[in-house]
Amino acid sequence: MRVVSGIQPTGDLHLGNLLGAILRWTAMQEEAEASRFFFLADLHAITVDHDPAQLRRNVREMAAALLAAGIDPERSVLFAQSDVPAHAELQWLLACTARMGWLSRMTQFKAKSGKNREKASVGLFTYPVLQAADVMLYQATHVPVGEDQKQHIELARDIADSFNHRVGEEVFAAPAPYIGSGRAARVMSLRDASNKMSKSDPSDMSRINLTDDDDTILAKIRKARTDPDPLPDNLDGLEERPEARNLVGIMAAVTNRSEEAVLAEFAGQGFGAFKPALGEALVALLGPIRTRLEALRADEARLDAILDQGAQTAREAARPTLDKAYAALGLRR
Ligand code: TYM
Repeated sequence: MRVVSGIQPTGDLHLGNLLGAILRWTAMQEEAEASRFFFLADLHAITVDHDPAQLRRNVREMAAALLAAGIDPERSVLFAQSDVPAHAELQWLLACTARMGWLSRMTQFKAKSGKNREKASVGLFTYPVLQAADVMLYQATHVPVGEDQKQHIELARDIADSFNHRVGEEVFAAPAPYIGSGRAARVMSLRDASNKMSKSDPSDMSRINLTDDDDTILAKIRKARTDPDPLPDNLDGLEERPEARNLVGIMAAVTNRSEEAVLAEFAGQGFGAFKPALGEALVALLGPIRTRLEALRADEARLDAILDQGAQTAREAARPTLDKAYAALGLRR
């Protein structure tokens, strides 16, 4: 079992990242037989306009956040993508197999480029090819991601199959998305449950950030959009109630229960009772992570040392597959 996943070092870690990905990465550290590679996708972060000084800060900040959330450098390789040039190299080799049509179907590109498609960077378009390289380089079998990344990982699988077929050799393992159960796979905005919780939402009230203090967390939950009805006693009763469904899903993920168990506790009660309980559960989960983050971010030398060590391990792990890909294509290197 080879576990590989990444996160863009843009802004704060939010509850969607934590429940959809990071806390599942940390849970996978319990698997003794697995190797794990987690990285900060800084090459992906430059596909849109950015501030270089901010990116430099964000890489350290995100590394600190992952460590605070429980990523253990003794059990996982933690590194910055740009420290391992093989990612960019393999991306080119794969770009010559990936098809325009496949990339044109990617919903994230459509959403991010919007009406301004002609002005989008080429990198934004080929973003999923780099993402395929990220996981194929380490022969990933499991790629733990939230629902929104599923399409990209399925594309990586197509690219792997197609490349192997093209060269007549099993150069790459076929990666598979590994999505969490329940609603955590897709945590929605607190203001509008038809959008996912996201760092790019202009309203900070739409998300819970890892850096929010307890009062802010409680206030955001208090103000989260809901409906006036009491909670039902079964999931069918949430069908037409996306906001209620989202909050119940968050409660289930945060307290490690099923949504049914949450409804069994709160059936018949309104949000006046449910929201304070959810707020407290979030404070209990996030408070200790935030405290660790504050200590970790002060120690830049330690963060850099962890990232340097991770990069060295990742470079060594990536080399055999990259060499194999060059050779299979008949290239001289
Ligand atoms: P990114 O940085 O947007 O998000 C990091 C992880 O958090 C998950 N996530 C969510 N899960 C549930 N609900 C949400 N509202 C939510 N928002 C984000 C994402 O699914 C992701 O798992 N392209 C990737 C980064 C990447 C990558 C990779 C991932 C680059 N290379 C290789 C896996 C493998 C991205 O932008 O994720």
